[in-house]
Amino acid sequence: SVVRAGSYSDELVKTAKSIASPGRGILAIDESNATCGKRLASIGLDNTEVNRQAYRQLLLTTPGLGEYISGAILFEETLYQSTTDRKKFVDCLRDENIVPGIKVDKGLVPRPGSNNESWCQGLDGLASRSAEYYKQGARFAKWRTVVSIPCGPSALAVKEAAWGLARYAGISQDNGLMPIVEPEILLDGDHPIERTLEVAERVWAEVFYYLAENNVMFEGILLKPSMVTPGAEHKEKASPDTIAKYTLTMLKRRVPPAVPGIMFLSGGQSEMEATLNLNAMNQSPNPWHVSFSYARALQNSVLKTWQGSPENVEAAQKALLARAKANSLAQLGSYSA
Ligand code: 13P
Repeated sequence: SVVRAGSYSDELVKTAKSIASPGRGILAIDESNATCGKRLASIGLDNTEVNRQAYRQLLLTTPGLGEYISGAILFEETLYQSTTDRKKFVDCLRDENIVPGIKVDKGLVPRPGSNNESWCQGLDGLASRSAEYYKQGARFAKWRTVVSIPCGPSALAVKEAAWGLARYAGISQDNGLMPIVEPEILLDGDHPIERTLEVAERVWAEVFYYLAENNVMFEGILLKPSMVTPGAEHKEKASPDTIAKYTLTMLKRRVPPAVPGIMFLSGGQSEMEATLNLNAMNQSPNPWHVSFSYARALQNSVLKTWQGSPENVEAAQKALLARAKANSLAQLGSYSA
């Protein structure tokens, strides 16, 4: 078969392996300015560049973070920012042995012809942007598209999502960025867990079909799936053991062992749920490294502790380390509440 990613192939494999290393996972802080604004509003702060910088500085300068965190996904603004002492955020990460990553998609817009579904923009100009991000120190990329169960999903929306991810993954590999492949299946809906499993299997089958068709090198990617759970409005909640069983069934049926790692998103689960579910998935050996790439489930208590006050920064960093450590233990299957 055609081998893609010629000149960068060794580096891509190395990047994936170093992010998928035992007891570590990804800190996702790649909220767009609009989404970051919502997080800041939750603690009464204005959505200014100064406030976004202060919040990202708090997170990225947490002492000892690299013990539990192997990669950090940044928004473009953060990739170019520095601390108030003028140290590049990228260098703060490197000093902790954390690989800097970058969100490269341009967000979701309505997909005409679908069932009120969306598609993910960002392929135009992606090759040159990726080359520029590599120069700035990024070594991996993320592209998040979504699939909605209550809206169908329609065959068209699934195909669009899968094709976009595959095109993005190929372009990233050509430019030295190890791609994280993220078709988020939204939690919304009142469907049972069996329905989520069915949709997830369909989505991943198509994603891998188009990844292969685009000659993406599987050893040089990581996945960012949603866990297989009942819809958020379903009458019964599932236990971590049930979620682990369904999620691993889906992955074992659809994901080749050449893929080095599975880095779950938290998708609106509480911090504790996200940790317990990950821990349940690591109770027996898996063909791939099974870990986390959480945004909300690593940041919720940090924000609450910080409240925008400089005197709370140290306590907020401790809150981040506590969540990171809990998820590190969950990656090793040895977390206990
Ligand atoms: P959550 O963990 O908050 O779902 O974020 C996922 C994500 O894609 C951020 O990169």
